[in-house]
This record gives sequence, C-alpha cells and structure tokens, in this order.
Amino acid sequence: MKITFCCADTRIEPWLRDFSAALPDATFTDWLTTREATPPADYAVVWAPPQTFFDSQPSLKAAFNIGAGVNAILALPRVPVIPLVRLEDAGMAAQMVDYVAHAVLRHFREFDAFETTAKAGEWKKRRPLKRVDFPIGVLGLGALGSHVAKVMKAFDFPVLGWSNSRKHIEGVRTFHGAGQLDAFLAQTRVLVCLLPLTPETDSLINAATLNKLLPGAYLINVARGAHVVDADLLAAIESAHVAGATLDVFRTEPLPPEHAFWKSPKITITPHISAVTLREESVEQIAGKMLALERGETISGVVNTNRGY
Ligand SMILES: NC(=O)c1ccc[n+]([C@@H]2O[C@H](COP(=O)([O-])OP(=O)(O)OC[C@H]3O[C@@H](n4cnc5c(N)ncnc54)[C@H](OP(=O)(O)O)[C@@H]3O)[C@@H](O)[C@H]2O)c1
Repeated sequence: MKITFCCADTRIEPWLRDFSAALPDATFTDWLTTREATPPADYAVVWAPPQTFFDSQPSLKAAFNIGAGVNAILALPRVPVIPLVRLEDAGMAAQMVDYVAHAVLRHFREFDAFETTAKAGEWKKRRPLKRVDFPIGVLGLGALGSHVAKVMKAFDFPVLGWSNSRKHIEGVRTFHGAGQLDAFLAQTRVLVCLLPLTPETDSLINAATLNKLLPGAYLINVARGAHVVDADLLAAIESAHVAGATLDVFRTEPLPPEHAFWKSPKITITPHISAVTLREESVEQIAGKMLALERGETISGVVNTNRGY
C-alpha cells in the first residue's frame, strides 16, 4: 500500500512514525517535499491540499482528511472524484463538550460578573438563574453536535437540536430541515453551531435568524466562521437581543487585529482550538479504514460531495 501525505501546517514526522507503526507494510511519501515528482500513491492523508496535489495523483483510491470539516477541499476548482473521507469524532467530540459546557456554564452561572465583583474586592451574591430559561439549541446533530446535545441534557438544561434528517436523541427535542428551523430558533436561548460549512449553511447565523432566538440569547460558534454574518452578530449584541458570544472560528483566521470582535466585551475569542485533531486517535481511525478498503469493505465517514459534508 502506497500512502502520500499532503498536510499543510502540519509537522509530518510524528504522523509518518505513527502511520508506519500502524501499517508496517505500507510505503510513505511527503508530497509537499517532492511535489509533482512524488510517485503515484494508493491513498492520501490530507489537510488543506492544493489543486495540484490531486491533479498530480491520478491513482488515488481515497483521500483521508485529518479533520472533520472538508469545506476547503470541496472549494477546490476540481473536486477529486474519489472517496473523500473525513474524521469521525476521533477524540474531538469530548473536546467539543469541554468547550461548549464551559462556555454555557460560564454564561449561565455568570462567572464573568462574579469575577468583576471579586476583582473589585466585593462580596456580592446574585440571584441564581433558572435552567428552564436557558434552552440550548444545537445546530447540527452529527458526530460532534449529537454528543454535545447529550451532555448538555445530562447537565439538566432543556436541549433542542436541528439537523437535515430526522433524529431521535433521548431527552432532546429534535427538529429537521429548513422548514423547522424557525420553530427551533424560537425556543432556543443558547445557540451552539456545529454544522458543516456548505452553501446551505453559509451565513445561516444572520440578523433574521439571531432575531428569532429568545431574548438574551447567547451564541457559541465552534464550527466555521462563515456560518456567522459578523456585522449582524455585532448589531444583535449592540441591541442587547443577544447577550454575548463565544467564538472559536472566524471568516479570516487568524482574526485580523482590526476586527471589531476583539473590541466587544461581550465576545469571548479563542484561536480555533475547540477540538483539535488528535494524532493517535486519527491514525488509528484512518489506518483501520485503509485496511478495510483493501479488504473490499465499505467504510463510514465518506463525504457526500453533492450535499457538501
Ligand atoms: N472548531 C473546531 O476546532 C472544529 C473541530 C472539528 C469540527 N469542526 C466543525 O464541526 C463541523 C461538524 O462536525 P461533525 O463531525 O459533527 O459533522 P457531521 O457528523 O457531518 O454532522 C453534521 C450535522 O449537521 C447537519 N446538517 C448539515 N447540513 C445541514 C443543513 N443544511 N440543515 C440542517 N442540518 C444540517 C447534519 O444533518 P444530518 O445528520 O441529517 O446529515 C449533521 O447532523 C465540521 O464540519 C467542522 O466544520 C470544528
């Protein structure tokens, strides 16, 4: 089995070491080192590959993305017509849960207000807020969103979820399709975005959708920056209809120094770290799928390029 890597912004040596251990009979090349001179491979391991990568590797049987989101590959001028496989959880769901639970609890338990009074040397109690007033709506109930929804339910919040197809998650009120989006938004106070970025979901979080949320809404975006119309979020915060936001992803990353989000005291910014790719879990998942394909078996996690995720 011949495997080539084309992973931007990635130190490739540890990946090579772990893949060699998992697939001792395979041979490996690093396309970013040898470029078009790289011999044809059977499988590719990729992150943000350029068009020339796929153009120069016509024998690939499949390409494995070392992330869950494939929007960058699907935005290439000529999307490869081979199975494109994304990571499924691979340790990211637990990280998303940490991140979202922290953001929800920090907001709901008003830790920022307590920190402000504590810093001023004030012993000041606040009347507790009620969970029933903080329904959490999760956009996207896939590998990551369904896990977040289940754990937020375990925290005893009312939880709603929205997906393309109908879903059943115990204790979670589920909605599906564009026709049920408004009903979902109208009952949501904390909106968590875990959608893939597709033509349908690009700019979905805009003035119209934000205004449909319950008053005092809060946004947690851990999916892709282009889900949010930045100016509309700032206006919704300015009007106080939205109380604030925790944002991990942005239209331009790194977030430019002049961007208004940096200056808003109601916005918490993190540098795209809500769920990072874990190498060991990812190598185990991808190597297992390569071996399954070699045995002629079908694998999960193959992207449907027509629907965009
Ligand atoms: N910030 C980070 O560090 C980070 C890390 C990992 C992933 N992410 C982002 O998180 C996204 C989600 O990952 P995942 O693994 O959970 O993806 P996934 O398993 O493919 O789940 C996507 C979910 O979104 C739903 N969906 C897609 N298009 C929709 C639409 N037009 N209307 C309603 N629902 C729609 C799907 O519905 P169905 O179930 O009905 O198909 C599914 O429930 C990734 O695409 C990536 O962009 C971010």
